[in-house]
Amino acid sequence: MRTQVAIIGSGPAGLLLGQLLHKAGIDAVIVERRSRDHVLSRIRAGVLESGTVGLLDAIGASARLHEEGLRHDGVELLFGGRRHRIDLSRLTGGRHVTVYGQTQMTRDLMDHRAASGGVTVYEADDVEPRDFDGGKPFVSYRKGGVAHRLDCDFIAGCDGFHGVSRASAPENAIKTFERVYPFGWLGILADVPPVSHELIYAGEARGFALCSMRSATRSRYYVQCGLDERIEDWSDARFWDELRARLDPASAEALVTGPSIEKSIAPLRSFVCEPMRFGRLFLAGDAAHIVPPTGAKGLNLAAGDVHYLSQALIEHFREGSDAGLDAYSARALARVWKAERFSWHLTSLMHHFPENSPFEQRMQRAELDYLVSSDHAMAALAENYVGLPY
Ligand code: APR
Ligand code: PHB
Repeated sequence: MRTQVAIIGSGPAGLLLGQLLHKAGIDAVIVERRSRDHVLSRIRAGVLESGTVGLLDAIGASARLHEEGLRHDGVELLFGGRRHRIDLSRLTGGRHVTVYGQTQMTRDLMDHRAASGGVTVYEADDVEPRDFDGGKPFVSYRKGGVAHRLDCDFIAGCDGFHGVSRASAPENAIKTFERVYPFGWLGILADVPPVSHELIYAGEARGFALCSMRSATRSRYYVQCGLDERIEDWSDARFWDELRARLDPASAEALVTGPSIEKSIAPLRSFVCEPMRFGRLFLAGDAAHIVPPTGAKGLNLAAGDVHYLSQALIEHFREGSDAGLDAYSARALARVWKAERFSWHLTSLMHHFPENSPFEQRMQRAELDYLVSSDHAMAALAENYVGLPY
């Protein structure tokens, strides 16, 4: 089989890239390790920057997003027993975010790809990017025990943090940067109305908590937990009690609880690999970088990478110019590092670090007190939260 661009991974990055290329008349084949249903079974974050929405608009896959997505013009920070609203819209000249589950977005992209005749090979085994340092790259894989070769002009490694693409880069050509945080997030999904119409980021002494949602009837909550915590030790009742203990009295009172649909613990890390290009192999999304979910940047960074990469590939095939491809890594990394900074900063600000001295704990509180007292400081948070420009 032959295609112009072989995409490894059918998550948000791979699907968005495939459909942006399709819109430009460029052929792409996605090779995915898991089944369609497995990919859709993953519960991920749900805050979209306007740039991400714009890309979905551009490919014509945003109808349900505009129908069901929730426009949010503000977020709240809770500390010292009080909630403080950050007016995103006022502080950014009218910009906002849209709350819409990543699972829904992935489903919309899969449906759009199927309707447009895009080829996705699911349940492919032993997927490998090959000969990308030369002029004739290809992807090898096995399907149903039969070996396949997908010849292409370029390979997009959209296969996430644990994928094969970054692992295939020459060791002497790649540099990685990482911070693993001394805690994780215990998350619950439940069909109960959200405690508030906007997100609440809580940073009390007991630990971080986040009140989010998927719709007016489905809520997503998180509490910071130790890395040694096991999900089987967390009954729904224990989770709800801990969440209440990390909220202000009024919110704790208003909280509607119910049986969990999903409950899981995820570790937090900051990670970047440089560069994001190795010959004819280009990395995009979690394959190249990871952010702690505090800033809701993971999905949106994947969209930004794919915006740059799709533009560069279109320029190559349409105009025969490789300027965009040559600039891709530096251009993407410039935006990645700013989002890494924001996500690390908000994580450092809102979480309880067991190793922090009393002085450092006071510094955290002083940062928060200053933040909510200064329009300038809040504007800086707001412009990062709604998304820096591409
Ligand atoms: N071969 C083929 N596919 C693979 C391989 C492999 N060796 N390894 C992983 N994959 C697939 C995974 O099964 C997954 O469907 O690649 C896809 C990667 O998708 P994501 O991990 O979702 O990464 P990305 O598309 O970059 O999206 C980033 O999704 O995971 C969230 O928090 C993340 O919000 C961020 C966004
Ligand atoms: C979510 O709804 O899952 C979510 C929202 C905001 C975040 C992280 C996760 O910062």
